[in-house]
Amino acid sequence: MDKLLIRGGRRLAGTVDISGAKNAALPELCAALLTTDVVTLENVPGLQDVTTMLKLIRNMGVQAERAEAVGGRVTLDASGLSSPEAPYELVKTMRASVLALGPLLARFGEATVSLPGGCAIGSRPVDQHIKGLQAMGSEILVEHGYMIAKVPSGPDGQPGRLKGCRITTDMVTVTGTENFMMAATLAEGETILENAAQEPEIGDLAEMLIKMGAQIEGHGSRRIRIQGVPRLHGCTHRVVADRIETGTFLCAVAATGGDVVLRHGRADHLDAVIDKLREAGAVIEAGEGFIRIRAHGRLQAQSFRTTEYPGFPTDMQAQFMALNTIAQGASTVTETIFENRFMHVNEMVRLGAKIQIEGKVAVSEGVESLSGATVMATDLRASASLVIVGLVAEGQTIIDRIYHLDRGYDQMEAKLRGIGADIERLR
Ligand code: EPZ
Repeated sequence: MDKLLIRGGRRLAGTVDISGAKNAALPELCAALLTTDVVTLENVPGLQDVTTMLKLIRNMGVQAERAEAVGGRVTLDASGLSSPEAPYELVKTMRASVLALGPLLARFGEATVSLPGGCAIGSRPVDQHIKGLQAMGSEILVEHGYMIAKVPSGPDGQPGRLKGCRITTDMVTVTGTENFMMAATLAEGETILENAAQEPEIGDLAEMLIKMGAQIEGHGSRRIRIQGVPRLHGCTHRVVADRIETGTFLCAVAATGGDVVLRHGRADHLDAVIDKLREAGAVIEAGEGFIRIRAHGRLQAQSFRTTEYPGFPTDMQAQFMALNTIAQGASTVTETIFENRFMHVNEMVRLGAKIQIEGKVAVSEGVESLSGATVMATDLRASASLVIVGLVAEGQTIIDRIYHLDRGYDQMEAKLRGIGADIERLR
């Protein structure tokens, strides 16, 4: 099992290229299932989760070519899709597999998708996905750990077609919104998503679907309207830059001190995080296709609570907490989205951080310095936060189980070495 070895205390300086967004690429790979034409995605990040998703759709009979040499281009041809199934052994490693459900139902009128099962950061049920797709006319039986979905056949005996309707979920759900939006593109009539997620990845997916001939408006707002069309055609789409990778690097430079330019990063997708970093004392400039951050010395710790976009993203909670551990003053972090997303705290305490968890709130008192230790990654964003504290801690930090990191970060240690970090992968 790979580990990362970091020798902390180095300033970061230079330029980093931000990759395409994991949480846009995953639904967009599934969007290719909606057409028999060829779909080309560019700027697809080199992530384990993308590899898993490609394995999943190839397993269904989709032709998928990944031209690594051409900067993350993936060409998909779902014309030969023969088995609309997502098996447990793949779904259990990546919950985003549930994103195949909507497209398969829309195109074939049937799908068998394993329930994702638990996850380190929370139970993360998919009951809202089921509720919404049932409202669109699909029968969904949950049996032996699988969702067996089928749109009742029409009078001609052919698989039935989903019907547009108004969907209001019990809470805002990102992949739920994406599943419904994809399903609605080929449904009969109009679908209105009343409390839709507003994350930039939703907007990027909508832009791709519109290129394919979908009729969508309101994406990026709480209310999305989709008019179903008979079929969708192919397209070429460039995956939007990853705002969480961008935020992760911003927090790393704020913690270590330095002067770094992030190319392709979108500051307009990270307002809540950038505002907090500026309040902490970082100097951040943004222009067309770049963000520059400068930081020097100990910043001021910042309190925040995670909420749906455009609020402070839960996927940035651990990384900003890493900055707070060595900033000046006390701060509170409130996690409102997931029930168990503080697993990085105990690992940070091993490096000398002063953090107390009280239910949904983590209270921390900034310390002058941290000391390197061996720690264990528990989930994707927790592993990123441990990299940040390792970059700051005196001496060596070894991070175990970094397969968590590889799921969502494209060549992180190479990018960090490129701006001066002393970091290497131990195989
Ligand atoms: C997406 O997960 C992201 N994953 C997550 O990123 C992100 O943390 C999350 O949105 C919140 O922003 C992808 O986009 C692939 P939700 P998702 O449905 O869609 C509850 C990362 O680190 N809920 O918006 O699964 C749920 O338990 C990952 O990149 C239900 O109860 O999250 C949670 O408390 C981690 N029933 C809340 O809603 C449902 O049917 C929000 O979850 C669906 C969700």
